[in-house]
Amino acid sequence: IKSGYEGLLNKNFEPLNIRSVSGIINRGGTFLHTARSKEFMTEEGQNKAVKNCIEEGIEGLIVIGGDGSFRGARALSLKGIRCIGVPGTIDNDIACSDYTIGFDTAMNTAMDMVDKLRDTAQSHQRCSIVEVMGRDAGYIALNTGIACGATAILLPEYEVDIKRDVIDRIYSNMKLGRRHFIVVVAEGVGKTKDIFDEVSKNIDIDVRVTILGHVQRGGSPTLLDRVNASKLGHEAVKLLIAGEYNKVVAINKMDVVSYDIMEALSMKKTIDKETVDLAHELSI
Ligand code: F6P
Repeated sequence: IKSGYEGLLNKNFEPLNIRSVSGIINRGGTFLHTARSKEFMTEEGQNKAVKNCIEEGIEGLIVIGGDGSFRGARALSLKGIRCIGVPGTIDNDIACSDYTIGFDTAMNTAMDMVDKLRDTAQSHQRCSIVEVMGRDAGYIALNTGIACGATAILLPEYEVDIKRDVIDRIYSNMKLGRRHFIVVVAEGVGKTKDIFDEVSKNIDIDVRVTILGHVQRGGSPTLLDRVNASKLGHEAVKLLIAGEYNKVVAINKMDVVSYDIMEALSMKKTIDKETVDLAHELSI
């Protein structure tokens, strides 16, 4: 089904065979395309989707996406279409799974980009403020910040005090002889411009801002993404064949598991405090 629920409503279907997906494991993006469908959010839209499935002889759906996609899958399950959810988003913000497809590739891209930015920060003795994606979650920022030795990492999960979390940290690093600084900000913090203004105003250093944006969503997937996506996809198919549905497959502590969709949607995810503390300790 091309373009997600939108394609389900428009019968944008393409039969695939065993060879259809050969040679795509190294490709970024999705050859299935993706879309947001307003029509599918309505009862009428969902009834039309069910009708289309029945007309086309579709016995089960595997839905790759986040919470919104899983809510749609649950609605279809309740109307008799068997659905299995597979967590896929670079944000890693799906509570039932430690890992979501795309996360590792996005972090590795962000890490490479920050490494490149650091070359200029170091040569020109600047402060480089880098905004990374993640919507309302700080997972990409936290891990990229640790991996790049950031002086400050700002996450939406924690209240941000620019003086305490950025200015004072830069000053204490300066006292120890550091002359260039990387500040990683999660987009969900929403204060990248303020951080630029405050650092420029309070510290005698050249400051530059880089918003990494959609480069983080592209490129060849990393090994971890390819292996985890293969495991999750395999489990989803196994469940459907076994007659199980209304579930989300997940990776927990390296194991592939599954949960009822409602249970999965009711779970809460919190960013690992120990990793946050580690980031702070290492950035001195
Ligand atoms: O959810 C994935 C994500 O890339 C977020 O990290 C980001 O906030 C958002 O999507 C960007 O969405 P769009 O492509 O619509 O700009």
